Amino acid sequence: MTTHPQERAAVLRAALADELEADGRLSDPVWRKVFEAVPRHAFVPEFWTLTPQGLRHVTSGDPDWLESVYSDEALATQLTDGVATSSSTAPGLMLRMLQALDIADGHRVLEIATGTGYNAALLAQRVGSHQVVTVEVDPGLARTAEERLRRCGHTPLVHTGDGRSGHPDRAPYDRLIATCGFSTIPSAWLAQVRPAGLIVSPLGWGTVRLVVADDGRAEGRFLPERSYFMAVRAAGSTGVPAHPGRPEATSGRITGLDLTAVAEDEAFRFVLSLVAPDTGFAFERGDADGPVTAVELWGPDGAWARAQDGRARQAGPRPLWDVVEAAYRLYVDHDRPGRERFGVTVGAGGQRVWLDAPSRPLPVVGAAER
Ligand SMILES: C[S@@+](CC[C@H](N)C(=O)[O-])C[C@H]1O[C@@H](n2cnc3c(N)ncnc32)[C@H](O)[C@@H]1O
Repeated sequence: MTTHPQERAAVLRAALADELEADGRLSDPVWRKVFEAVPRHAFVPEFWTLTPQGLRHVTSGDPDWLESVYSDEALATQLTDGVATSSSTAPGLMLRMLQALDIADGHRVLEIATGTGYNAALLAQRVGSHQVVTVEVDPGLARTAEERLRRCGHTPLVHTGDGRSGHPDRAPYDRLIATCGFSTIPSAWLAQVRPAGLIVSPLGWGTVRLVVADDGRAEGRFLPERSYFMAVRAAGSTGVPAHPGRPEATSGRITGLDLTAVAEDEAFRFVLSLVAPDTGFAFERGDADGPVTAVELWGPDGAWARAQDGRARQAGPRPLWDVVEAAYRLYVDHDRPGRERFGVTVGAGGQRVWLDAPSRPLPVVGAAER
C-alpha cells in the first residue's frame, strides 16, 4: 500500500518532533502542536545539502526529499557565486530560539530574515498571521516566501527591506526574532520592542536572548547551543568578507599558541567571534587527520593575520593575531567557559559583551563601522 505524500510528511514530522523532544530541544507542548501543523516541505521544494563529496542538489522529485526535509538539518535554498545566501534553519535550533522567545497569545512578533518563510509560518500558526511581520532583504526571496505562506493559509506582512532597520510602521512589538547573523544588535530594534519585550538573535557564533529595559537598553545571555547563521547582508551582496590577499611585507613574530587547539576548539571559536567580530577564519593541515599547521584570519577592513611554523604575521588596522592570543589566554584562565556564561548589554552607548556579569566586559577589537 502506498501512503499519500501529505500523510507520509505528517508521520515524518511527528517522528522528528519525538526526536527533538527526546534530546530536550522541544519541551513546550504548544510548540509541538505548531511544529506538527506546519508543513516544512511546502517551503523547501528544492535545496542543497553538504555531503563529503560536496553540495548535493535535492528536489521534490528525489526519493529522499521528504526524509531530508524532516531531518534536523539546515537546508541551503539559494546559492550566489557558490555561497549560500538563504537557507531554512535546522528545526531543532529554530525551536530552541522560538521557545526562548517566550511567546504568549496575542503577542506581536517581528521576524528579521524571512528566507523560505517557514519560520514565519510557525510564528503565524502560533499567534495568528495579523500579529506577525517578517522582513527579507532579497526581493525575490520575499516574493516566493509570501506566495508559499499564502498557499499554506498564512498572511503575515512580508516586507522587503533591510532588517537592520526593523519595521517601525507596526511597532511596538512584544517579541523580535532574527535568523541571520549579526556582529552588533541594531539600535533600531531597541526602539521598536516594548519594555520587558524580548529579542532573540544570532550574535557572533551564538544566539543571544535580550530583555528590553524601560530605559531602552537591552541585556541578556547567550543560549548554550551552537549557532552559525549566514551573515546579514545588503541587497545583492553575499555578506562574506572578501579575503584581502596575503600582504607581502609583514614582519613576523614568535607565537606560542597551539594552532590545533585554537582551530578545533569550537567554544573558543565562539569567543573569537565576539572579540574579533566580522572576521573570516580558515586553517590548514599537512595531512587530512594531522595537526593544524596554519591559521588565517581576515576582516572586511583589510585586517589580516596568519600563524604558521611558530610565527605569526599580521597587517591592516586590527592586530588580529594579538587578539587571538589575548582571547585564548582569557578563555583558558576562565576554565573554558561555554556560551551560556557570556552576555551582552546594548544601549545608546553601543554594545558590550561580557563574561559572567555585565561588570566584566570583554576587550572587543571590531572593524570600523562599514
Ligand atoms: C537563515 S536564512 C533565514 C531563515 C528563515 N527564517 C526561514 O525560516 O527560512 C537567512 C536570511 O536572511 C536574509 N537576510 C540577510 N541579510 C538581511 C537583511 N539585511 N535584512 C533582512 N534579511 C536579510 C537572507 O536573504 C536569508 O534569506
